[in-house]
This record gives sequence, structure tokens and C-alpha cells, in this order.
Amino acid sequence: MSSQALNEVLPDAESAVNMDAFWMPFTANRDFKNAPRLIDSAKGFYYTSSDDRQILDTLAGLWTSGAGHCHPLIVEAVQKQVAKLDYAISFQVGHPGAFELADRVTSLAPEGFDHCFFTNSGSESVETALKIALGYHHAKGDASRTRLVGREKGYHGVNFGGISVGGLPANRKMFSNSLLPNTHHLPHTHNLEYNAFSHGSPNWGAHLADDLENIVALQDASNIAAVIVEPVAGSAGVLVPPVGYLKKLREICTRHGILLIFDEVITAFGRVGAPFASQRFEVVPDIITTAKGLTNGVIPMGAVLVKKEIHEAFMNGPEHAAEIFHGYTYSGHPVATAAGLASLDVYEKEGLFERARANERIFEDALHSFKDMPNVIDIRNFGLMGAIEFAPREGQPGIRGLDIHKACFEAGLLVRNGMDTIVFSPFLAADESYFQEAFEGLRKILTKID
Ligand SMILES: Cc1ncc(COP(=O)(O)O)c(C=O)c1O
Repeated sequence: MSSQALNEVLPDAESAVNMDAFWMPFTANRDFKNAPRLIDSAKGFYYTSSDDRQILDTLAGLWTSGAGHCHPLIVEAVQKQVAKLDYAISFQVGHPGAFELADRVTSLAPEGFDHCFFTNSGSESVETALKIALGYHHAKGDASRTRLVGREKGYHGVNFGGISVGGLPANRKMFSNSLLPNTHHLPHTHNLEYNAFSHGSPNWGAHLADDLENIVALQDASNIAAVIVEPVAGSAGVLVPPVGYLKKLREICTRHGILLIFDEVITAFGRVGAPFASQRFEVVPDIITTAKGLTNGVIPMGAVLVKKEIHEAFMNGPEHAAEIFHGYTYSGHPVATAAGLASLDVYEKEGLFERARANERIFEDALHSFKDMPNVIDIRNFGLMGAIEFAPREGQPGIRGLDIHKACFEAGLLVRNGMDTIVFSPFLAADESYFQEAFEGLRKILTKID
């Protein structure tokens, strides 16, 4: 980056930092390093930038921090834990916190989910879930069930399993010859002709789940292990399932003995006004992946929840042998576990899942008030997930979205763009003044942008 830009954002001693070394994820590195946007601290709903400006966060971290940044109870729990037990091996030895957290998480889950495998991220949760699905069929003597079905526009993290079942072309393009074999994709449900400006679940599109029957007809159910979908697709720009769509997927999977995995990395822990989206949609999958809100984003951690019968299928070998040859050095890490337990306490004590539900209407009204602004081609929302999609500038897809992101940051608002769609993930704990500041601020900024 130019030293001039560096000096502007790091005016004091820190300007000795070489910003070149950090290859930033999902970032236009050269563009960023020419004019960095740096965050120094956070509290509640705000970040403080390195040039000492308050920046209102409309993303709650990255769909992570529903209870607000630096929540005192979570900070205290982490501080205490790191001083008491900084690390504990989870292979053949354990520590109580991990067992307690697994118990707490499964008690929030839909009925029948009584086991939980810890990971460190959403991507790892997805890999773990796919491996559990394959292992389950193998253990049941159905080893031919190896095919995996994802969906166009799906996002399941960045590891090889996740990008293979994922459906975002940009995430696959560079690696397309090295993806997992035997993956298939359902059609996405994003359709501006039928579904533009839907409030909540659109009425059109449940029939798209029937494509699973076509995949079954072609590949034979005896070869298909699992279907994985996000109940509400987040990274593709908040694609809400059409009314009846998820129920149809469930029915078809059940009919053919295919496992249904809900990737709830975004939707779990209150984002859709319930502990899990599965409960909100009243559709029970077989495996659920989580991360993000599990620790309010404070320490990386994920969890994969499975139903009793899936867990039982693995418990059939000799008792002295590990039942699944899978796990991470940091599975059930004590500090992450402490953050998880404290986060669940905060969610419960502050009634945040209920608050999220109560905030939905305010959020929906605020979002849809942008309908008549120039270049807005769609607005979508479900729970506390929402998106405004803008028409791309001719021949320059993504530039308008990036311009909005930059102008907002400059004006004290953090918004995230995926191409020309701005996605919103307000805090579960938000109040009316938060929504007012966020959306009035956005309106002012948008009026100044082409
Ligand atoms: C549905 C879903 N699955 C998986 C992931 C990957 O999570 P992580 O970035 O923690 O690996 C994400 C991240 O946004 C996600 O939204």
C-alpha cells in the first residue's frame, strides 16, 4: 500500500506496521490497501475506527455478534477461563465446560438432536457434517450412498467439501477441476420476476424442491447420502425459502432415505427469532451445522448437531476404538467453550431470541421503505436477515455495491455488499433508535451515490 494511505489511517507509532503481509480474505487487497478502512475497538452496536470515528455496525460482526460487541459478561467469562485453563486436549481427555456446552446447545435444538461435535468455524462444521453423513451410511451398510446434493447460490464455507456442494460460481471457479466428485445441485430460488419485494417467505417457488426427485431418478437414491441447504441463504444475499419449499425437501429426503443437513451457521442462535431456523420453519433436518452466534463471534467455534439415530449408528464397533476418525486440535477449546456458555446465558437472560422476533417488523418496515429509491431492484427479509439488491452499473457488476460500502464507512455506517446487494444482519439486541440511525443514515448516503 502507499505509505501515504497508511499514515492517514495509522497516524501514530503504529504507522511502522507493514500492511502488505496480511493477505486479507474475501477482500480486494490492492484496492483496500490503497485506502484502508481500519477498526480499532468495539462496544455494543458500534465500532471505533482507527481515526477515532464511531461506526454503526449493521452486520452484527459478520452475522456473529447478536448480543452486541464486547458484551461484559462474555468478556469476563473469557478472561476468567483463559487464566484458569487456557487449553485442554479433547482427544481421550476432556474438560467439563465442553460437556456442559454440548448439553446446553442440544437442549435448545429441535427434539431428537442430542449430540454435538465441536469445530472451530462454519467451514469446519460443514466438512464435519458431510463426513458424518457419509460415515452414517457406511456404518449402516449403505456404503454406496456417497453422492452429495447442494444448491445453486448456496454458501457452505470455503473448504473443499463446502465449495463442492456450494453454488457460488466465484468461489468454485479457480478450483473447479479439484472439487469433490459426485456432487449435484438443486436450482436456486431467486427469481425477481415472481419474488421481487416479497416480505418474508415468497409464495412462488416451492416446486423447485421437486428437482430433487429428478436427481434421485437419475442417480438413484441408493447412491445419495445427503442434501445440504441453508434454510435462509445468507451469503448469496438473503434468499428466503418459498412457502412450503423446505417441507417438500424434507418429504423427498425422508421418502428416499437421504439425510437432510441444514447449514445454520448464520441462522442458528436467534437470527431468525428462534434458537434454530429449523424450529421457525417447523422442518426438522437430520444434521444441523452452526458456528458464529454460538460464541457471539468472540472466539471461533462451531458445532454440528446430530440426531440420536445418527450418533447411534457410529456406536457399534469395539468400545476401545474411536467411533469416528475426525476431530480438531481445538474441538471443545476451553476458552471458546466459556465464550459459548456465557453467550447462551446472555441470550437467555436478556431474552434476545424473543427480542429478535419482536424486532422483525421494525426491520422489515425500515428495509422495504427503500423500495422506491433509484436502482433498487429487490428487497428481501426474514427474521433479522435482510438485503437490498441494486441494479449493477452497466458493464461494472459489483462496483455500485462496493461504492455504497465505502461511502457508508466514510459516513460512519458499516454495511456489507455482496456484488450489488447490501445485506443486513442487525443485532438481536437492537432497539428502535438503532434501526432509525442505521436506515436514516443509509438513506442519506444513498441519495449522494450514483
Ligand atoms: C451458511 C454458512 N455456512 C458456512 C459458513 C462458513 O463459516 P466460516 O466462515 O466460519 O468458515 C458460512 C459463513 O458465512 C455460512 O454463512
